[in-house]
Amino acid sequence: MSEIQDAVRDRYAAKALQMAQPRVTGALAVACSLSETDLLTRRAEWRAIDTAALIDRREASGTVTSTYRTSPGTLTELARLVAAEQVCCATSRWELHREGDEVRVTVDASRGTCCEDDCCGTSYSTAELESVGIDATSSLGCGNPMLLADLRQGERVLDLGSGAGLDVLLSARRVGPEGHAYGVDMTDEMLAVARANQAKAAVTNATFLKGTIEDIPLPDAAVDVVISNCVINLAADKRAVLREAHRVLRPGGRFAVADMVAFAELPVEVKRSLDQWAGCVAGTISIDEYTAALQDAGFTGIDVEITRETHLEGLEGAIASAYIRARKEATA
Ligand SMILES: C[S@@+](CC[C@H](N)C(=O)[O-])C[C@H]1O[C@@H](n2cnc3c(N)ncnc32)[C@H](O)[C@@H]1O
Repeated sequence: MSEIQDAVRDRYAAKALQMAQPRVTGALAVACSLSETDLLTRRAEWRAIDTAALIDRREASGTVTSTYRTSPGTLTELARLVAAEQVCCATSRWELHREGDEVRVTVDASRGTCCEDDCCGTSYSTAELESVGIDATSSLGCGNPMLLADLRQGERVLDLGSGAGLDVLLSARRVGPEGHAYGVDMTDEMLAVARANQAKAAVTNATFLKGTIEDIPLPDAAVDVVISNCVINLAADKRAVLREAHRVLRPGGRFAVADMVAFAELPVEVKRSLDQWAGCVAGTISIDEYTAALQDAGFTGIDVEITRETHLEGLEGAIASAYIRARKEATA
């Protein structure tokens, strides 16, 4: 179990360090839906073509333009790499233009040069993101818990696995000065990014706590709502997480999370892969298992809504993003 937790912590510590670095968009970090190994390979392919043919790279108004010398080989390789990035993250608008002896690759880096190797796309509106001054690349989630949590002024909210803090800060804005938003995360590097984002957004009614979601550092009945975004699947002991979520909710409190679920039994080699576990794949459980674990933890009114199927090579149709809602009985 601690092997899984160590792998998850290492993965998100590395991501936090990437987030904390000033964005060097000219370096063109690339590619989602890739394993760590494939990501390294893709980066090496970009480095190789840069070394062989890059003439100039500059950034203006969020667009990075890289100019390459053309040759049939360069053109073919650039077309292949750009097509791969377009599949990865349409919002970044990767494009290739041929002009005489040169070929230009442009990418809208303000939307992220890629959508990382976990979950693609964003579920947040521009207005939401602007309200906390954070861009969508700070989200490593698989949905937007704000869409299902129905937060009200004065409520206390807890985000399990708060990462860079986007959902905590949005919740804090929603619940207003009379309410409070807590985030729990086990990774020091992520907590540092989240606290820096909080300072940038000047949000005062939020607190980021260090801890695990299997042992939440809050007293019983401390919050009205528990949210989470693409984290519970990462826990080795999901039943402990759901019991803890139930414990910290007040009677009548709401559970509203975005998470990944499995439609089919995953191959044994995938289940055993720590890399695939940390990438939100191997730790997924079926809707039936999720529902049973929620019931056993004491939740009622359980509803699971599939929001997007995930297309992974070799695992087509096996996992999907879902919105999961439940309630702690008012009399509990
Ligand atoms: C996939 S990221 C999601 C982050 C955030 N919810 C978001 O939507 O961007 C997973 C986050 O959960 C944290 N995490 C994973 N397992 C955890 C656990 N068992 N206890 C506490 N934090 C955990 C990681 O450190 C990481 O920050």
